[in-house]
Amino acid sequence: MSVWAILVAAGRGERLGSDQPKAFAKLGELPLLAEPLRRLDDSEWIDAVVVVAPPGWEEPAILLAEEIGAGKVRASVPGGETRTDSVRAGLAEVPEDAAVVLVHDAARPLVTDAVVERVLAPLSEGWDGVVPGLPVSDTVKRVGSDGAVEETVSREGLWAVQTPQAFPVATLRRAVQSGADATDCSGLVAAAGGRVKVVPGDPLLLKITTAADLARVASLL
Ligand code: CTP
Ligand code: MG
Repeated sequence: MSVWAILVAAGRGERLGSDQPKAFAKLGELPLLAEPLRRLDDSEWIDAVVVVAPPGWEEPAILLAEEIGAGKVRASVPGGETRTDSVRAGLAEVPEDAAVVLVHDAARPLVTDAVVERVLAPLSEGWDGVVPGLPVSDTVKRVGSDGAVEETVSREGLWAVQTPQAFPVATLRRAVQSGADATDCSGLVAAAGGRVKVVPGDPLLLKITTAADLARVASLL
Protein backbone atom coordinates (compact mmCIF):
# COMPACT_ATOMS: atom_id res chain seq x y z
CA MET A 1 0.00 0.00 0.00
CA SER A 2 1.75 3.17 -1.11
CA VAL A 3 1.24 6.43 0.75
CA TRP A 4 1.80 9.74 -1.06
CA ALA A 5 2.03 13.05 0.74
CA ILE A 6 0.99 16.35 -0.85
CA LEU A 7 2.64 19.32 0.85
CA VAL A 8 0.60 22.42 -0.01
CA ALA A 9 2.86 25.46 0.11
CA ALA A 10 1.43 27.66 -2.62
CA GLY A 11 -0.26 30.32 -0.49
CA ARG A 12 0.82 33.93 -0.71
CA GLY A 13 1.06 34.43 3.05
CA GLU A 14 -0.71 37.77 2.98
CA ARG A 15 -1.25 37.84 6.75
CA LEU A 16 2.45 37.11 7.34
CA GLY A 17 3.32 40.10 5.18
CA SER A 18 6.85 39.06 4.13
CA ASP A 19 8.39 39.89 0.73
CA GLN A 20 8.41 36.24 -0.33
CA PRO A 21 5.59 33.71 -0.24
CA LYS A 22 5.10 32.23 3.26
CA ALA A 23 6.75 28.90 2.36
CA PHE A 24 9.99 30.76 1.62
CA ALA A 25 9.99 33.04 4.66
CA LYS A 26 12.95 32.19 6.91
CA LEU A 27 12.34 29.79 9.78
CA GLY A 28 15.73 29.64 11.45
CA GLU A 29 18.40 29.30 8.74
CA LEU A 30 16.24 27.84 5.99
CA PRO A 31 12.97 28.64 4.22
CA LEU A 32 9.94 27.51 6.25
CA LEU A 33 9.17 24.84 3.62
CA ALA A 34 12.33 22.92 4.58
CA GLU A 35 11.03 21.88 8.00
CA PRO A 36 7.76 20.12 7.05
CA LEU A 37 9.42 18.75 3.89
CA ARG A 38 12.26 17.15 5.85
CA ARG A 39 9.84 15.73 8.40
CA LEU A 40 7.52 14.18 5.80
CA ASP A 41 10.51 12.85 3.86
CA ASP A 42 11.87 11.24 7.05
CA SER A 43 8.53 9.60 7.92
CA GLU A 44 8.62 5.83 7.80
CA TRP A 45 4.92 5.87 6.74
CA ILE A 46 5.39 8.00 3.62
CA ASP A 47 6.67 6.67 0.28
CA ALA A 48 6.61 9.76 -1.94
CA VAL A 49 6.05 13.50 -1.67
CA VAL A 50 4.58 16.09 -4.05
CA VAL A 51 5.34 19.73 -3.28
CA VAL A 52 2.79 22.31 -4.43
CA ALA A 53 4.81 25.50 -4.69
CA PRO A 54 3.82 29.12 -5.20
CA PRO A 55 3.64 29.71 -8.97
CA GLY A 56 7.18 30.46 -10.19
CA TRP A 57 8.77 28.82 -7.12
CA GLU A 58 8.69 25.18 -8.33
CA GLU A 59 12.43 25.19 -9.12
CA PRO A 60 13.54 26.77 -5.80
CA ALA A 61 11.38 24.14 -4.04
CA ILE A 62 13.21 21.31 -5.87
CA LEU A 63 16.60 22.88 -5.11
CA LEU A 64 15.62 23.14 -1.44
CA ALA A 65 14.56 19.46 -1.43
CA GLU A 66 17.98 18.56 -2.87
CA GLU A 67 19.76 20.77 -0.35
CA ILE A 68 18.12 19.00 2.61
CA GLY A 69 18.37 15.55 1.01
CA ALA A 70 14.61 15.00 0.71
CA GLY A 71 14.86 12.05 -1.67
CA LYS A 72 11.15 11.13 -1.73
CA VAL A 73 10.11 14.27 -3.63
CA ARG A 74 8.61 13.13 -6.95
CA ALA A 75 7.31 16.46 -8.26
CA SER A 76 7.10 20.18 -7.57
CA VAL A 77 4.12 21.81 -9.25
CA PRO A 78 2.62 25.31 -9.18
CA GLY A 79 -0.41 25.81 -6.96
CA GLY A 80 -3.65 27.55 -7.81
CA GLU A 81 -5.76 30.45 -6.64
CA THR A 82 -7.35 28.60 -3.70
CA ARG A 83 -6.08 25.87 -1.41
CA THR A 84 -8.47 23.44 -3.10
CA ASP A 85 -6.98 24.34 -6.50
CA SER A 86 -3.52 23.65 -5.07
CA VAL A 87 -4.59 20.26 -3.69
CA ARG A 88 -6.05 19.40 -7.11
CA ALA A 89 -2.73 20.31 -8.77
CA GLY A 90 -0.86 18.07 -6.33
CA LEU A 91 -3.25 15.16 -6.78
CA ALA A 92 -2.64 15.24 -10.53
CA GLU A 93 0.92 14.07 -9.76
CA VAL A 94 -0.20 11.14 -7.60
CA PRO A 95 -0.24 7.93 -9.69
CA GLU A 96 -3.36 5.81 -10.21
CA ASP A 97 -1.94 2.91 -8.22
CA ALA A 98 -1.29 4.95 -5.07
CA ALA A 99 -3.60 3.83 -2.24
CA VAL A 100 -3.52 6.62 0.28
CA VAL A 101 -2.85 10.34 0.16
CA LEU A 102 -1.90 12.57 3.04
CA VAL A 103 -2.40 16.31 2.56
CA HIS A 104 -0.38 18.62 4.78
CA ASP A 105 -0.09 22.41 5.10
CA ALA A 106 3.48 23.67 4.84
CA ALA A 107 2.27 26.38 7.24
CA ARG A 108 2.29 23.69 10.00
CA PRO A 109 6.00 22.88 10.09
CA LEU A 110 6.12 20.78 13.28
CA VAL A 111 4.48 17.64 11.88
CA THR A 112 5.49 14.40 13.62
CA ASP A 113 5.59 10.76 12.62
CA ALA A 114 3.25 10.01 15.53
CA VAL A 115 0.46 12.18 14.11
CA VAL A 116 1.05 10.75 10.62
CA GLU A 117 0.60 7.27 12.08
CA ARG A 118 -2.57 8.33 13.95
CA VAL A 119 -4.28 9.63 10.80
CA LEU A 120 -3.28 6.66 8.65
CA ALA A 121 -4.34 3.88 11.04
CA PRO A 122 -8.18 4.27 10.90
CA LEU A 123 -8.28 4.22 7.08
CA SER A 124 -8.13 0.41 7.26
CA GLU A 125 -11.50 0.54 9.12
CA GLY A 126 -13.18 2.06 6.07
CA TRP A 127 -13.23 5.77 6.94
CA ASP A 128 -13.28 8.18 3.97
CA GLY A 129 -10.93 10.56 5.73
CA VAL A 130 -9.04 10.95 9.01
CA VAL A 131 -7.99 14.31 10.45
CA PRO A 132 -6.09 15.37 13.57
CA GLY A 133 -7.91 17.73 15.90
CA LEU A 134 -7.96 19.25 19.36
CA PRO A 135 -11.07 19.87 21.46
CA VAL A 136 -11.80 23.60 21.62
CA SER A 137 -10.91 24.84 25.11
CA ASP A 138 -11.68 28.55 24.82
CA THR A 139 -15.17 29.96 25.23
CA VAL A 140 -16.55 30.52 21.75
CA LYS A 141 -18.73 33.50 20.75
CA ARG A 142 -20.42 34.46 17.53
CA VAL A 143 -19.58 38.14 17.00
CA GLY A 144 -21.16 40.63 14.60
CA SER A 145 -19.16 42.88 12.26
CA ASP A 146 -19.71 45.74 14.78
CA GLY A 147 -17.90 43.70 17.47
CA ALA A 148 -21.03 42.94 19.46
CA VAL A 149 -21.41 39.44 20.87
CA GLU A 150 -24.45 37.80 19.33
CA GLU A 151 -24.23 34.38 20.91
CA THR A 152 -22.10 32.12 23.09
CA VAL A 153 -21.63 28.94 21.10
CA SER A 154 -21.51 25.74 23.15
CA ARG A 155 -18.07 24.17 22.76
CA GLU A 156 -19.57 20.75 23.43
CA GLY A 157 -18.35 18.55 20.57
CA LEU A 158 -16.34 21.35 18.90
CA TRP A 159 -12.85 20.43 17.65
CA ALA A 160 -10.24 22.56 15.91
CA VAL A 161 -8.93 20.53 13.01
CA GLN A 162 -5.34 20.41 11.75
CA THR A 163 -3.34 18.72 9.02
CA PRO A 164 -1.97 16.19 7.95
CA GLN A 165 -5.27 14.71 6.73
CA ALA A 166 -5.41 11.19 5.25
CA PHE A 167 -7.74 9.84 2.55
CA PRO A 168 -8.04 6.92 0.15
CA VAL A 169 -6.72 8.51 -3.07
CA ALA A 170 -9.88 7.80 -5.10
CA THR A 171 -12.06 9.43 -2.41
CA LEU A 172 -10.09 12.67 -2.39
CA ARG A 173 -9.95 12.74 -6.21
CA ARG A 174 -13.74 12.51 -6.41
CA ALA A 175 -14.13 15.19 -3.74
CA VAL A 176 -11.84 17.74 -5.45
CA GLN A 177 -13.52 17.12 -8.79
CA SER A 178 -16.95 17.90 -7.32
CA GLY A 179 -16.33 21.63 -7.72
CA ALA A 180 -17.04 22.33 -4.02
CA ASP A 181 -14.67 24.50 -2.01
CA ALA A 182 -13.60 24.24 1.64
CA THR A 183 -10.74 25.45 3.83
CA ASP A 184 -9.59 21.86 4.40
CA CYS A 185 -9.72 18.62 2.43
CA SER A 186 -11.96 16.84 4.92
CA GLY A 187 -14.57 19.53 4.27
CA LEU A 188 -14.53 18.59 0.58
CA VAL A 189 -14.81 14.88 1.37
CA ALA A 190 -17.65 15.47 3.85
CA ALA A 191 -19.48 17.67 1.32
CA ALA A 192 -19.28 14.74 -1.11
CA GLY A 193 -20.95 12.50 1.49
CA GLY A 194 -17.82 10.94 3.01
CA ARG A 195 -17.45 9.89 6.68
CA VAL A 196 -14.50 11.61 8.33
CA LYS A 197 -12.94 10.59 11.66
CA VAL A 198 -11.08 12.91 14.04
CA VAL A 199 -8.08 11.57 15.97
CA PRO A 200 -5.99 13.43 18.57
CA GLY A 201 -3.86 16.12 16.96
CA ASP A 202 -0.83 17.82 18.44
CA PRO A 203 -0.74 21.27 20.11
CA LEU A 204 2.67 21.79 18.47
CA LEU A 205 1.11 21.47 15.01
CA LEU A 206 0.28 25.15 15.16
CA LYS A 207 -0.28 27.00 11.92
CA ILE A 208 1.93 29.91 10.98
CA THR A 209 -0.33 32.78 10.00
CA THR A 210 1.36 35.90 11.42
CA ALA A 211 4.94 36.99 12.12
CA ALA A 212 4.35 36.20 15.81
CA ASP A 213 3.46 32.59 14.88
CA LEU A 214 6.67 32.36 12.86
CA ALA A 215 8.74 33.51 15.85
CA ARG A 216 6.91 31.08 18.15
CA VAL A 217 7.54 28.09 15.88
CA ALA A 218 11.19 29.15 15.40
CA SER A 219 11.59 29.04 19.20
CA LEU A 220 10.27 25.47 19.22
CA LEU A 221 12.69 24.08 16.60
N1 CTP B 1 -2.26 27.16 0.21
C1 CTP B 1 -1.97 26.73 -1.08
N2 CTP B 1 -2.55 27.35 -2.15
C2 CTP B 1 -3.38 28.40 -1.96
C3 CTP B 1 -3.67 28.86 -0.65
C4 CTP B 1 -3.09 28.21 0.43
O1 CTP B 1 -1.20 25.77 -1.25
N3 CTP B 1 -3.89 29.00 -3.04
C5 CTP B 1 -1.60 26.50 1.35
C6 CTP B 1 -0.65 27.44 2.10
O2 CTP B 1 0.61 27.48 1.45
C7 CTP B 1 -0.62 26.86 3.48
C8 CTP B 1 -1.99 26.19 3.61
O3 CTP B 1 -2.53 26.09 2.30
O4 CTP B 1 0.40 25.89 3.64
C9 CTP B 1 -2.91 26.94 4.54
O5 CTP B 1 -3.15 28.24 4.01
P1 CTP B 1 -2.91 29.60 4.80
O6 CTP B 1 -2.36 29.31 6.16
O7 CTP B 1 -4.12 30.43 4.65
O8 CTP B 1 -1.68 30.22 3.98
P2 CTP B 1 -1.68 31.44 2.97
O9 CTP B 1 -2.89 31.36 2.10
O10 CTP B 1 -0.34 31.44 2.34
O11 CTP B 1 -1.76 32.69 3.96
P3 CTP B 1 -2.74 33.97 3.83
O12 CTP B 1 -4.14 33.40 3.88
O13 CTP B 1 -2.38 34.82 5.00
O14 CTP B 1 -2.42 34.62 2.50
MG1 MG C 1 -4.90 31.56 2.98
